Amino acid sequence: MEIKEEKVVAVILVGGPTKGTRFRPLSFNTPEPLFPLAGQPMVYHPISACKRIPNLVQVFLVGFYEEREFALYVSSVSNELRVPVRYLKEDKPHGSAGSLYYFRDKIMEESPSHIFLLNFDVCCNFPLPNMLEAHKMHGGIGTLLVIKVSAESANQFGELVADPITNELLHYTEKPETFVSDLINCGVYVFTPKIFSVIQEVFLLREDRADLRDVSSYESPQLAIRSLPSDFVRLDQDILSPLAGKKQLYTYETMDFWEQIKTPGMSVKCSALYLAQFRFTSPHLLVSGDGKRNATVVGDVYIHPSAKVHPTAKIGPNVSISANVRVAAGVRLMNCIVLDDVEIKENAVVMHAIVGWKSSLGRWSRVQADGDYNSKLGITILGESVTVEEEVVVINCIVLPNKMLNVSVQEEIIL
Ligand code: GDD
Repeated sequence: MEIKEEKVVAVILVGGPTKGTRFRPLSFNTPEPLFPLAGQPMVYHPISACKRIPNLVQVFLVGFYEEREFALYVSSVSNELRVPVRYLKEDKPHGSAGSLYYFRDKIMEESPSHIFLLNFDVCCNFPLPNMLEAHKMHGGIGTLLVIKVSAESANQFGELVADPITNELLHYTEKPETFVSDLINCGVYVFTPKIFSVIQEVFLLREDRADLRDVSSYESPQLAIRSLPSDFVRLDQDILSPLAGKKQLYTYETMDFWEQIKTPGMSVKCSALYLAQFRFTSPHLLVSGDGKRNATVVGDVYIHPSAKVHPTAKIGPNVSISANVRVAAGVRLMNCIVLDDVEIKENAVVMHAIVGWKSSLGRWSRVQADGDYNSKLGITILGESVTVEEEVVVINCIVLPNKMLNVSVQEEIIL
């Protein structure tokens, strides 16, 4: 007898241009999900993790960016990783659960038994096959990836309480004002197709409420929900909170790394985490060198094959150098992301920084920061086509595109 294999699909929520504002000035040129971490567009990392899911048939990227912004990348990553990837464009934001529901027919086309849902802006090792196993053991509608964080930082996330024995999700509150728990939602889920009927219920309830409001002076006690359009459904507040404690949702705790990538500063930190992971998953993407024929390389470094780096340069740790970058003699780079077509001239130093596309750093210039990933100016960011002239020093600054710096600057946003 032929055993019918269960099919699995994955949906990566990529949001849209309005979500990119916190990533300025880097989101002017590239949608945030395509910004490179460890030399690969941010979404490459979850997509390549999906490849490890048994019986994966399709990865969907769902967002409200224009199709053309993703078309090229979707076809190149599908070829490179041999995973079918499709971009699905919403006409407007529907919220994290609403967007899944909006494309339910496409997502269910191949009748998958399970659906992974991943936020694009998280950095972790995506233990997806283990989550699926755990989910099958627990049963229910879904399993959430969770992690323990410091009590001070927990309120930036969905805080939750889980049964220590059964792992059932008992209580869930999104970004609460008062502390609930240091166990938080990582934004990575696996669901059965039943999730669509749960979203539909919320959807219908909303429509009923809207009708009621139209005919009477009925006031919903849930003020937040009142102002939302009826087809806008949030996974956390509208689905996870009400479903907690009903033996429908379970948790899978990761002991590995996990970060949220909400700022350019965090992208330098997450680049380091992914480079370190490449040692195990994709060692061919890391370079080495001892200063003889190639530059001296310290720690984890990615250099695009088209980049030209002088053998007397010293690179690393945590450096990623994109296409067509030129790095001259005596240059020192550490903890930085250097984007396409940048030129770094002799003896320049770049430390804790992101150097935007087509920028140029003069001889003996320094572009650096103190490396505090959480503070606004803790990483120096140069937008596209910024010129830093010879010997100029730029410390803890954000520089908007097309600026020419001919005097040294510190702790400034240069508009
Ligand atoms: N396509 C699409 N359409 N994507 C959306 C939409 C939408 O209308 N709204 C949000 N998203 C995507 C975002 O791009 C992101 O990938 C994900 O949904 C979650 O975004 P938010 O709803 O803005 O929530 P958050 O990032 O502040 O917090 C969520 O993620 C944290 C983990 O990173 C919550 O689920 C937290 O509980 C969780 O800790």
